[in-house]
Amino acid sequence: MGSITLINNETGDKFDFDLIDCTRGPKAVDFSKLFETTGIFSYDPGYSSTAGCKSTISFIDGKKGELLYKGVAIQELVDKYKFTDVCKFLISDSLPQNDTDSLEFDLELRHRSFLHEKLKRMFDVFPDRAHPMATLSALVSVLATLYVDHKEIVNEEGYQTMARRIIAKIPTMVAYCYRNSVGAPFIEPDVSKSYVENFLYMLRGYPHGRMKYNRDGEQEISALEVEALDKILTLHADHGQNASTTTVRNVASTGVHPYAAISSGISALWGPAHGGANEKVLRQLSEIGDVKNVDKFIEKAKDKNDPFRLMGFGHRVYKSYDPRAKTLKKIKDELDKKGIKMDTHLSEIAQKVEEVALKDDYFKERGLYPNVDFYSGIILTALKIPVELFTPIFVMGRMPGWCAQLIEHNKNPHARITRPRQVYLGK
Ligand code: CMC
Repeated sequence: MGSITLINNETGDKFDFDLIDCTRGPKAVDFSKLFETTGIFSYDPGYSSTAGCKSTISFIDGKKGELLYKGVAIQELVDKYKFTDVCKFLISDSLPQNDTDSLEFDLELRHRSFLHEKLKRMFDVFPDRAHPMATLSALVSVLATLYVDHKEIVNEEGYQTMARRIIAKIPTMVAYCYRNSVGAPFIEPDVSKSYVENFLYMLRGYPHGRMKYNRDGEQEISALEVEALDKILTLHADHGQNASTTTVRNVASTGVHPYAAISSGISALWGPAHGGANEKVLRQLSEIGDVKNVDKFIEKAKDKNDPFRLMGFGHRVYKSYDPRAKTLKKIKDELDKKGIKMDTHLSEIAQKVEEVALKDDYFKERGLYPNVDFYSGIILTALKIPVELFTPIFVMGRMPGWCAQLIEHNKNPHARITRPRQVYLGK
């Protein structure tokens, strides 16, 4: 196991602390008794050097640019499995063994995708211009009023019901946020459609199960679109102790209803430093407007007197190319080849931004590479997803991760309420 010794240079006192071996990644010092043994606590704003929990869900190697869910590389999951398979894997530990197994879980989600009538009526109270992230956070909180059986948070069956219910309902809620904002009638889920196809159908469909008509007949949702969105969701499914996941765990640590904790995670994800970056990237690319302006914006991003940051660049953990961004770039190029046209103008600006930034010493020295949000917006636009739904799509992707992390936290008999200290500098 090993240990480290901490020496107080003022008094000469020495204290030993155990090192914890991780199955992958660097060791951690067990400082849980630091205050008790030394009377001193640690200061780590932003928790860059602090692990708040032990987890078996996802692993990131920031130097190698590697991301694993339960030991399996995301690339393998993206290539071989559907998003719903990955959901099952994250919340219940096993990948489907065969197509029947996979379909069974998928069917359960389809049947749980309908919203409570009272919840549907609540959309009416939100103004048309309400950001869907605010609406979603509020409505997920409302789920805690509709599903009040507390048994569900203390046994395995209950955890599974809690997770499956919200994973199933969140696409319906996202689609309804949009339809409500444009005054369109809600489209009920269609149980004959798979998870992602159903979402696109609820977003784009017309009443009575119809899709948009054009002169060639009914426009279906293409398998290519479904596949691309499915892969995007898998890429977002979990990502260690990021701000929103940590929020879910922190709020869950007080013993609240799981949906109250998840609602807080949605709020945390909304910010532009986190999941809100995908929306901002697209708006920023439009603001850059032309490849000839890229150098000017790169200079702005480097200027310490200018708050401007290059959105979709940089990451706390990755100091090399974010593997999710690499896969997204591949998906973008493949879709382009297969006929789903990207916005070439924005694509060219994005490529130029990446090219200039990756050659620039400022970005190289700080290990700033494109992150997951850099290319996702361009793909989502090509899939005809409105820009204000980009972060809600991140919510759909991250939902199994939040549920898995919450279950892991709640099942841990040693878990304690989150209660950090402060370095007091006041009067
Ligand atoms: N543009 C310009 N400079 C940057 C950027 C950027 N996007 N990101 C970091 N830096 C600089 C920063 O100014 C600092 O410079 P210096 O050392 O001279 O003070 C250095 O790089 C380290 O940055 P930091 O702010 O200390 O890093 P952090 O780990 O606290 O923040 C981050 C990480 C993601 C919030 C930040 O890189 C950022 O604001 N990026 C833009 C927003 C973004 O794309 N967010 C999505 C993150 S990925 C999705 C997710 O998982 O949430």
